[in-house]
Amino acid sequence: MIRFLLNDQPVCAHQPGTLPALDFVRDHQHLRGTKTGCREGDCGACTVLLGELDAAENVVRYKSMTSCLLPLANVAGKHLVTIEGLNLSPQPHHLNRAQQAIVDCGGTQCGFCTVGFAVSLAGHCLTSSGAPTYAQTVASIDGNICRCTGYKSLERAAAQLTAELAGLPAAEPLPWLTENGFIPAYFTGVAKKLASIQQSSPSHPPTLSPSHPLTFLAGGTDLLVQRPEAMLTTATANLFDQTTLRGIQRTGDEIRIGAATTAQEMMDSEVLGAAMSGLRRFMKLISSTPIRQMGTLGGNLCNASPIGDLTSWFLALDAELTISDGLGNERTLPLRQFYTGYKQLAKVRTEFLMSISFAAPKGVFNFEKVSKRTHLDIASVNSSAVLASDANGIVSEAAISAGGVGPIPLFLTRTSAFLIGRKLSDETMLAANEIAQQEISPIADARGTEAYKRLLLRQLLRAHAVEAASGSRKRQATHNTSETLAACSLKLAAP
Ligand code: FES
Ligand code: FES
Repeated sequence: MIRFLLNDQPVCAHQPGTLPALDFVRDHQHLRGTKTGCREGDCGACTVLLGELDAAENVVRYKSMTSCLLPLANVAGKHLVTIEGLNLSPQPHHLNRAQQAIVDCGGTQCGFCTVGFAVSLAGHCLTSSGAPTYAQTVASIDGNICRCTGYKSLERAAAQLTAELAGLPAAEPLPWLTENGFIPAYFTGVAKKLASIQQSSPSHPPTLSPSHPLTFLAGGTDLLVQRPEAMLTTATANLFDQTTLRGIQRTGDEIRIGAATTAQEMMDSEVLGAAMSGLRRFMKLISSTPIRQMGTLGGNLCNASPIGDLTSWFLALDAELTISDGLGNERTLPLRQFYTGYKQLAKVRTEFLMSISFAAPKGVFNFEKVSKRTHLDIASVNSSAVLASDANGIVSEAAISAGGVGPIPLFLTRTSAFLIGRKLSDETMLAANEIAQQEISPIADARGTEAYKRLLLRQLLRAHAVEAASGSRKRQATHNTSETLAACSLKLAAP
């Protein structure tokens, strides 16, 4: 039994925890405002809000999520909000300010995507601390696709909403939002209702037994795409809400990230941001806001996709995994030894990933990705690098990974070793590329031919060098050694 608050009503669901929340609200609650589109997390037509009680602050923190990939188990004890729960009561057909902005600006035609946009924008109103910028409002709908309007009218709606939110107070915004017609009044009582639900059905860690192997389920963003029907009858251990598996800490030079930490939590982490200056830019290449708020680090690593974006990061960063057998025993393993073949992992089925740890990079960390769309797409080829060079531009540290160029995510051992002691230049990267081409074995598929993927990797290696030189310049400028900068300058020649 899964207890939660659905809009303004407490519910007890007896369906499997692997049932997508989309099917629960449409088929079992007959709330058909939420639309079914791609069922892959791409289109955003199924967007809902999920509110989680922060008991320490006595506030509910909302996140937009794609309900087609949201396992019902992950809703337990939380506030699930559909479009029906965002219309202003007691006038059920009275539009809230986000909906009205879409209407005023002609942001809807066939209307299929409109619900998703309205929910994302309402979520933006709930999560903004103080008056948001136009860029922040537009970013809140980065997981929503419209095939009719051409987006200009939706951008105008975002601008109108931004202007209307100018008076939003940073502290305790909920009363202001309800009084001014952005959010229904019942939201002010949600924290109390969630506390009551959680008291009556506290969550427990998964019970594991080697004799009853379970499938581990975290955010659901891969498993509910790959095999949604099979998951309905699969016994799962749900890791998403295990607080011991979440969080990011730094001790000395070591950074540890819990396996159930979401991509959004990584993106917002001050600890990670201090270690990787391009963190937010890199994260925007990985997925949309709703998917980042659901997908976890552990899920990305254990999915074992040869093209996993975070996998590429942590291969370059030489991360070490801490793996549990669920019975209190733990072991560690370098990520570089985790992938043994296509979708094969160096762990038994009953083991699960607890956390990863890695040393904060001393050199410049960079992530490059080429995909058909800039955002919300799987890469054709991706690559990560840590490159450090001295004042003369001589490489002192090099670690490069590549995805989409073999059956497993690859750490380019020989290419990385070749770079040590050489001057960071375009010529050096072209020579390194000759070695990299021997380390990879791409195949032609929907994301490109073999030759195209080989060409992409060559260009990404050169891009790493440009970024490393630029990063070195910034670091050295900070230490007043600008006279050495010319040594690091690179030109990216035309392909
Ligand atoms: Fe398209 Fe869920 S149906 S994102
Ligand atoms: Fe038709 Fe957006 S209005 S898909």
